[in-house]
Amino acid sequence: MVHQECIKCKTSYGIDEIVYFCKKCGDILEVKFDQKELLEKISGKDWKTSPLSVWRYRELMPIHETTKVVTLNEGGTGLHRAQRLGSELGLSNLYIKNEGENPTGSFKDRGMTVGVTKAVELGARHVICASTGNTSASLAAYAARAGIKCTVLIPSGKIAYGKLSQAMIHGAKVLQVKGNFDEALEFVLKLAEKHKTIYLLNSINPFRIEGQKSLGYEICEQLNNEPPDRIIVPVGNAGNISAIWKGLKEFYQLGLIKKLPKMTGIQAVGSAPIVQAIKTDCDKIIPVENPETVATAIRIGAPVSWKKAVNAIRESHGTAETVTDEEILNSQKLLAQIEGIFVEPASAASIAGLNKLIKRGIILEDERVVCVTTGHGLKDPDTAVKMSEKPIEVDAEMTAIEEALGLRNKVSILAQ
Ligand code: F0G
Repeated sequence: MVHQECIKCKTSYGIDEIVYFCKKCGDILEVKFDQKELLEKISGKDWKTSPLSVWRYRELMPIHETTKVVTLNEGGTGLHRAQRLGSELGLSNLYIKNEGENPTGSFKDRGMTVGVTKAVELGARHVICASTGNTSASLAAYAARAGIKCTVLIPSGKIAYGKLSQAMIHGAKVLQVKGNFDEALEFVLKLAEKHKTIYLLNSINPFRIEGQKSLGYEICEQLNNEPPDRIIVPVGNAGNISAIWKGLKEFYQLGLIKKLPKMTGIQAVGSAPIVQAIKTDCDKIIPVENPETVATAIRIGAPVSWKKAVNAIRESHGTAETVTDEEILNSQKLLAQIEGIFVEPASAASIAGLNKLIKRGIILEDERVVCVTTGHGLKDPDTAVKMSEKPIEVDAEMTAIEEALGLRNKVSILAQ
């Protein structure tokens, strides 16, 4: 039977029990399916006829059959062959899974459609999260769609404007905590513990991870069930890389794919506790007290799902790498200018990481690689404007416009 299970001591909890940490050992939980039951569920259904989306995989989601889902048509994002970027970086088979194409502009929608559906199923009337921006934007939208109350706690100062505007316009109660994301998360965890009527929807909630695992399923299906050699993912609170890995393993166990990609996590230099743990082969992370990076989405010093992420990287024989702010911004620009894909800085960390790993000889020219770009560039317009060529102000006259475009001389010669 499908249930929630502690990743350490394996204590089991029902899928209708509101529990975020194991009551016995305090570790985090995951949703577990019975293998045989899953096989039976999918073999009887023609799920491949539905469009590519999170709910194409309804049988693989821990939601009751009769439940009405809260959806904005999430998932089904493009997997773009990036030939020009590939040859620029020295790779013949590069794909971009562009999660900015989701309804609120980030991969979080995959988790929120399932998480908020679960919240409604459980009778919750008030949902909450801490966020560096995208989670709050997504939760606010899905809560609005479901007609329930939403509170978000964000770190003061550094959240990108696009994301803040989304949370605000969707009617969430927005609290800017004078501290960083890790501190905000501590508060929401305590709030949800203390006030049982508030349902927590950070990625500690295993139902969020269930929705996000569809990202792994989709990559396989878009490549005709021939998974890539490697998937590169920006890592913050570490839910997404864990979720993608869960999806891939489930597809493998169901016999839908024959091999598993290497999971590769990228963090910004100033917020890289997971990379540190992988590189030093350590079984614990050392939280970063004052995380810093231009990629505010992944400015996280104490990732709550670090154990799952470290497992995913080790089990898949993948790796982890850090990138500097400069490398992130250069990659963001490169992707926008030679592939036409505009992503936010955190997303570009996957491209920056790819570049570094190719240069180090860890990724070889013939590897098939998928980089996940997690959020749309319009989420953070300020950074994009700051790093781009400024608009040229001209008089409203043809001659001035031609001059600015360097057309003036040719035109005047022809006119003579
Ligand atoms: N990329 C973007 C654009 C994100 O918004 C996040 C996380 C990540 C990558 C990292 O994913 O946390 O699952 O490892 N943003 C969260 C938020 C923390 O609050 O929006 P992760």
